[in-house]
Amino acid sequence: MTATAPQPWLAAADGLPAGFRFGAATASYQVEGAAREDGRGESIWDRFSHLPGNVVNGDTGDVACDHYHRWTDDLDLMVSLGLESYRFSIAWPRVQPDGRGPLNARGVAWYRRLVEGLLERGIEPVATLYHWDLPQARQEAGGWAVRDTALRFAEYADSMASVLGDVVEGWITHNEPWVVAFLGHAHGRKAPGIRDWPTALAVSHNLLLSHGLAVDALRARVPDTPVGITLNLNPMRGEPEAAALMDAHQNRWFLDPVLRGTYPAEMIEAYERVFGALPVNPEDLDVISRPIDFLGVNYYNPTYVRASSEAPLGASTYAPRGALTAMGWPVDASGLHELLVRLRADYGDLEIWITENGAAFDDEKLVDGVVEDPSRVAYLSSHLEALRRAAREGVNVKRYHAWSLLDNFEWEHGYDKRFGIVRVDYETQERILKRSALWYRDHIAATRGGG
Ligand code: NOJ
Repeated sequence: MTATAPQPWLAAADGLPAGFRFGAATASYQVEGAAREDGRGESIWDRFSHLPGNVVNGDTGDVACDHYHRWTDDLDLMVSLGLESYRFSIAWPRVQPDGRGPLNARGVAWYRRLVEGLLERGIEPVATLYHWDLPQARQEAGGWAVRDTALRFAEYADSMASVLGDVVEGWITHNEPWVVAFLGHAHGRKAPGIRDWPTALAVSHNLLLSHGLAVDALRARVPDTPVGITLNLNPMRGEPEAAALMDAHQNRWFLDPVLRGTYPAEMIEAYERVFGALPVNPEDLDVISRPIDFLGVNYYNPTYVRASSEAPLGASTYAPRGALTAMGWPVDASGLHELLVRLRADYGDLEIWITENGAAFDDEKLVDGVVEDPSRVAYLSSHLEALRRAAREGVNVKRYHAWSLLDNFEWEHGYDKRFGIVRVDYETQERILKRSALWYRDHIAATRGGG
């Protein structure tokens, strides 16, 4: 361990508000590995990734970055980069193998060591309760399509607050519920691989309900710790009518209930027209809209949309001309500025944490022991500049987490897509710094006046 702990409060610097923190993010199934160790239960991603055809190259998260065994080295790596905040997720089946009933003490102890290890190193732990690895036993009981899973999730949130609430410094209920609901249950590209729109709509509602119930549970145990939810938000570009529809489907379907206590009326109408009666109980909106302390934003790119008679909702997405990442996503930092300003204009002066931002690129060459990734350096620097511009214009953005600390298991793309600022050699599990990690380290140091 080399760096010193960050000051208890960080002065306003270079356009950033006081208390702003720089960090990085990961998620349990993408980095931990140790899929069958210390009593961990099976998750829907274990099941899904082991079924042929679901993941590129047949990759699974069985070993991933072996972070479960290498966490102390990974924490030291974070210190060497000067990170101030670390967003990780708790694998529900590791701490409660069946998604109900007794906790698995060995799983809980591992997260406790991780969180205490972060605090000892002066890095603030931000825990996400659900980053997609539902216990398989819950899926067999109906998964997120049944209301009971929302109630079980609230119990799980309560348990986590009781065993980790004294050390975790920020709680995120869900990560990207749109992706869970629609990519997991309408398009079937992610676990549990279901292709049924009415199911996806029920799932979206139950996820939102479970968020509200979890906020209540966390508040009761840890009233002074900030609580929020992370949404994947994309500014929509293209034909205005299609763009408004997709904005309501993807962004507002989650923003409005959480922050305003209503679903977008035009979307209710559109869903009912296409899929019939909605399994959405308006009485739940009171719980869903419980006040939160911050909105977590995952921003990667704007989305381009146009009318399409084949798409279920009448609009589909396309890749525009110009620079694209290895995922085929446009590189456009102006979208982050636009999004931040829009959130304040439409939803008021809420605190925002960027919980993910980053990019995958191919062909990163190792030169003199460092992986040269100029495209990622350009991506991160332009997005941090966009964030600063929004902050100078008064948007209350308090944290930034690069996605990701490490190359990791990129869901249905397996290990093919690399988002890390640190390279992982999956043969040896060696961590190799990329230029972007060094650039980020220097950027943080310069902001703090030490660089
Ligand atoms: C968002 C997800 O939260 C994360 O798990 C994923 O790896 C990144 N996007 C990149 O696709």
